[in-house]
Amino acid sequence: MRSINRAVLVFALLGVAARAQVTPPPAAPAVPASPYVGSEVCGTCHEDIAKAFGKTPHHIADGTDKKRGFDGRACESCHGPGAKHAASADAADIRNPGKLGAAAIDRICLTCHVNQPTQIGRLQSSHAKDQVACTTCHTIHATGSEVLVVRKTDAINKQCEGCHLTVAAQFQQPFHHKLPEGAMNCVDCHNPHGSMRQAMTQSFGANEPGCLNCHGDKRGPFTFEHGPVRFGGCSTCHVAHGSANPRMLDRPQVQQLCLECHSNLPAVNSTRTIGVVPPAFHNCTVCHQKIHGSYVDRNLLK
Ligand code: HEC
Ligand code: HEC
Ligand code: HEC
Ligand code: HEC
Ligand code: HEC
Ligand code: HEC
Ligand code: HEC
Ligand code: HEC
Ligand code: HEC
Ligand code: HEC
Repeated sequence: MRSINRAVLVFALLGVAARAQVTPPPAAPAVPASPYVGSEVCGTCHEDIAKAFGKTPHHIADGTDKKRGFDGRACESCHGPGAKHAASADAADIRNPGKLGAAAIDRICLTCHVNQPTQIGRLQSSHAKDQVACTTCHTIHATGSEVLVVRKTDAINKQCEGCHLTVAAQFQQPFHHKLPEGAMNCVDCHNPHGSMRQAMTQSFGANEPGCLNCHGDKRGPFTFEHGPVRFGGCSTCHVAHGSANPRMLDRPQVQQLCLECHSNLPAVNSTRTIGVVPPAFHNCTVCHQKIHGSYVDRNLLK
């Protein structure tokens, strides 16, 4: 009798252990099953929040914007069905995204925002991988000086520099884009939501770098391309945040830059190979003026 009981107990424990091994870790605290109750009911107790919410873009999910399926229940689009909480007024009965992990928050936001073009590089984004959630940059129930989305140049730079101190310092180099002067912002070159390009850099026309949005003369297509411009990108030779070198080049002298790829051995039966250039004592770009590509000259001279 006793030994049978023990066997049952052992099996039960084994069962628990086995289950513990296969159960995936819970993604988010379970929200107790509860029907929807509607935003109006939430507003009876959370008056200030409801009033402020009426002035944010999200309120259209409550009426005008019927296609997302939260007509009259916008609060519950992020907080989950809330009838139980509305009855109990207990914090444990409602989902507070502020208490969830980054991935769980993002999932809530992306139920509606997933197909927006600016979110296309989401999976490659370092922000998603490093737990920087949507709500790190977007304050849903903004009060006072907070906003749902920063749009002004200074505000954007301040938000980004808050975490990226090293980058802010790079813009203090003698040759830099006029970002600290307020003429441009991080989002001119980066998509904070991620991108298909490296370092979350902006892209236009599907795969052109954001640089070309302002430096259109470097776009081409050129009849005679310079390999690294086309295939390596602008950062092969330029440091976009700022550099101690003129033209934000990554070497103090133009020659040094060119000679990292071209050797200055005398030309032997000019084979049009990368290793053979005539000896030169002038700055290479005095002659090779069309260094980003030429419409007429194979040697990028004009
Ligand atoms: C009957 C009044 C009442 C209604 C109706 C009500 N709430 Fe609350 N809610 C409260 C109270 C009280 C608290 C604070 C509970 C606490 O701090 O323990 C609270 C807390 C919350 C919290 C914070 C929970 C947390 O973990 O900090 C959220 C989010 C919330 N409510 C959302 C909603 C939403 C969404 C609705 C509508 C679906 C709603 N409430 C309807 C009274 C209400
Ligand atoms: C777009 C998503 C979203 C919608 C819609 C939304 N909330 Fe929230 N709510 C949040 C997030 C995120 C938080 C966590 C705090 C934060 O990050 O601002 C929060 C926090 C709260 C809190 C906790 C208060 C606090 O300061 O922590 C209450 C209460 C609340 N919401 C009520 C509401 C009510 C009422 C509505 C509808 C009028 C609503 N929410 C609509 C996302 C949303
Ligand atoms: C129920 C669907 C829904 C959910 C869930 C939702 N949003 Fe929105 N969001 C909208 C709608 C609708 C708008 C306004 C129209 C538009 O921009 O498409 C909007 C607008 C925004 C804007 C842009 C405001 C502007 O001025 O252009 C931001 C930022 C935003 N949401 C962030 C979030 C974040 C962060 C979350 C998650 C906490 C979230 N949203 C969850 C539907 C939703
Ligand atoms: C690192 C900060 C940051 C994070 C994280 C972030 N955003 Fe944004 N978001 C911004 C900035 C800055 C803008 C303004 C961009 C502009 O003006 O071009 C913006 C703009 C938006 C807009 C307005 C429409 C648009 O695309 O310009 C929406 C909607 C939005 N974000 C939703 C989200 C959602 C959903 C998430 C999470 C999946 C998220 N954001 C994560 C910084 C961020
Ligand atoms: C809450 C802190 C935080 C804020 C705010 C923030 N970032 Fe980030 N960012 C990070 C972290 C963490 C990483 C990943 C580690 C790294 O590469 O430094 C990162 C990475 C990046 C990267 C590198 C991408 C790569 O793949 O190499 C870029 C670009 C970037 N952020 C741009 C921005 C821009 C633009 C803003 C403002 C709209 C911004 N960040 C705001 C924390 C933040
Ligand atoms: C003129 C365009 C431009 C501007 C403006 C710009 N960036 Fe960048 N950033 C780049 C490019 C291009 C790279 C990729 C460099 C490379 O290939 O290594 C980069 C790389 C990064 C990286 C990842 C590598 C690193 O250096 O750590 C981060 C983080 C970053 N930028 C953040 C920012 C922030 C924050 C701002 C605003 C203060 C900003 N950037 C403004 C063009 C720009
Ligand atoms: C929002 C527009 C804008 C974007 C995007 C932009 N630039 Fe610029 N860039 C400028 C302006 C304006 C100047 C000249 C004014 C100045 O001195 O800052 C400039 C200057 C430069 C210079 C130095 C020219 C000189 O005469 O010293 C280089 C090199 C450069 N940009 C490269 C880049 C690269 C590489 C990118 C992409 C990573 C890029 N830019 C993205 C606007 C932009
Ligand atoms: C092979 C190296 C290399 C690459 C790649 C490169 N550049 Fe340059 N760039 C240079 C050099 C060298 C100069 C300086 C020319 C001189 O001596 O005046 C320069 C100058 C510039 C200038 C200022 C003078 C002018 O022509 O307007 C801008 C702006 C510029 N580059 C933008 C870009 C952009 C945008 C890209 C990417 C599409 C890019 N560069 C790619 C080498 C390069
Ligand atoms: C990152 C490597 C790299 C750098 C830096 C670089 N080049 Fe090039 N360059 C190439 C490659 C690759 C080709 C194509 C070679 C080929 O087609 O055989 C090329 C082609 C050329 C050509 C055309 C010759 C031909 O055979 O088509 C000239 C001229 C030239 N480069 C000059 C320069 C000058 C001047 C600089 C400095 C401002 C420079 N390059 C910097 C890699 C580089
Ligand atoms: C005084 C003007 C001048 C200077 C300075 C100059 N080049 Fe040239 N380069 C030329 C001419 C002209 C040609 C075409 C020669 C030919 O067709 O045989 C040429 C051809 C080239 C080629 C193509 C070689 C080949 O095999 O066809 C490369 C690569 C090159 N130059 C790189 C450089 C580099 C790197 C520098 C700087 C270290 C430089 N050039 C400085 C005038 C110059």
